[in-house]
Amino acid sequence: MRLKSFQAQTLTVHAGSAGDSLYGGIVNPIYPAAAYDYVEEVRYPRYFNTPNQKAVVEKMVALEQGEDGLVFSSGMAAIMTSMLAVLKQGDHVLFQHDLYGGTHYAAVNALNRYGIAYSMADVSDLKTFAAALRPNTRLMYIETPSNPLMKITDVAGVARLARKKGILTMIDNTFASPVNQQPITLGIDIVAHSGTKYIGGHSDLCCGVVVTSKKLTEQIRQSALIFGGSLDAQTCWLVERSLKTMVLRVQQQNENALAIARALEKEPRIRAVFYPGLKDHPGHRIARRQMPGGFGGMLSFEVKGNAETFLKRLALIKRAISLGGVESTATLPVKTSHAKLTAAERQAVGISDRLVRLSVGIEDAGDLIRDIQQAL
Ligand SMILES: Cc1ncc(COP(=O)(O)O)c(C=O)c1O
Repeated sequence: MRLKSFQAQTLTVHAGSAGDSLYGGIVNPIYPAAAYDYVEEVRYPRYFNTPNQKAVVEKMVALEQGEDGLVFSSGMAAIMTSMLAVLKQGDHVLFQHDLYGGTHYAAVNALNRYGIAYSMADVSDLKTFAAALRPNTRLMYIETPSNPLMKITDVAGVARLARKKGILTMIDNTFASPVNQQPITLGIDIVAHSGTKYIGGHSDLCCGVVVTSKKLTEQIRQSALIFGGSLDAQTCWLVERSLKTMVLRVQQQNENALAIARALEKEPRIRAVFYPGLKDHPGHRIARRQMPGGFGGMLSFEVKGNAETFLKRLALIKRAISLGGVESTATLPVKTSHAKLTAAERQAVGISDRLVRLSVGIEDAGDLIRDIQQAL
């Protein structure tokens, strides 16, 4: 049977996990070597071609339905290395305006220093997004669902627009995870992840992944071996282990998040709930089409009272940055992911001081809802 014919739940377990040919063990060994015989292939951790790195990549490539990819030491290493690999001085990048705070910060503070221009535009209306294109636009960069307001970008629409004009597309697929959304099947060129989130899934490692075509992987690898953001064998092995349970984790997180969003909609002490699985979410129709696996484990809501007090009162849900772990965590974007934005920039993307972002874990949904209700 060909690997490609299997479903995600089978691929997460078996792709890239050939086992141990020396002793017949059914899991991949950890190969910590940083020095290899070079006769067959010049193998080296910073060349992104050691056995444990390749095992992670094989699983991710199978899940994202790409051709090849690379695993990095962090999500930002994956994102910035890929961008700088396909861009050069004089190019322009068009970003959707609501981005993960770290990517926003990198765009504003790093790209201009390399002579790369950028702009940010509202992608909820594709015509507005298209109007921001310039003759030298080389890359369109999107993120959906977006952080922290869970706005939905029409992935296929952006890909169509870019292809017509010969522009590359890149997406941050962290929030959706490959379980819920496969952007390459929708026409996107480069898919990046902060693997620190759903891919790692246990809040105990940091990594990044890029999946794309063979040609672009080689182009990105040439930059990656200069910038050097490779991942060590032990962490790769943990990532591979985590990926085997990702479908189960994310399915539970999808179900929990939907149950919580529906319960919070009825709460009089909550002003608004942002979750693409809710029928009245503005992106619901598109999300249903482009997220066949589910709407994800991330949601946000605005409380009517003091958000900091609310967070302090949570007993089960932990106050913590990052997301995608088996344990539920909450943050105030104004203090965390979007703290580096000015108040005006936050206002422009609709992030208020009362906004709470929730990363839903795999606990019992009823327990989580009761915790939120008592804190309110
Ligand atoms: C959506 C998104 N993209 C990228 C990143 C950056 O990933 P990392 O922290 O692994 O570098 C994060 C981190 O929070 C994120 O939330």
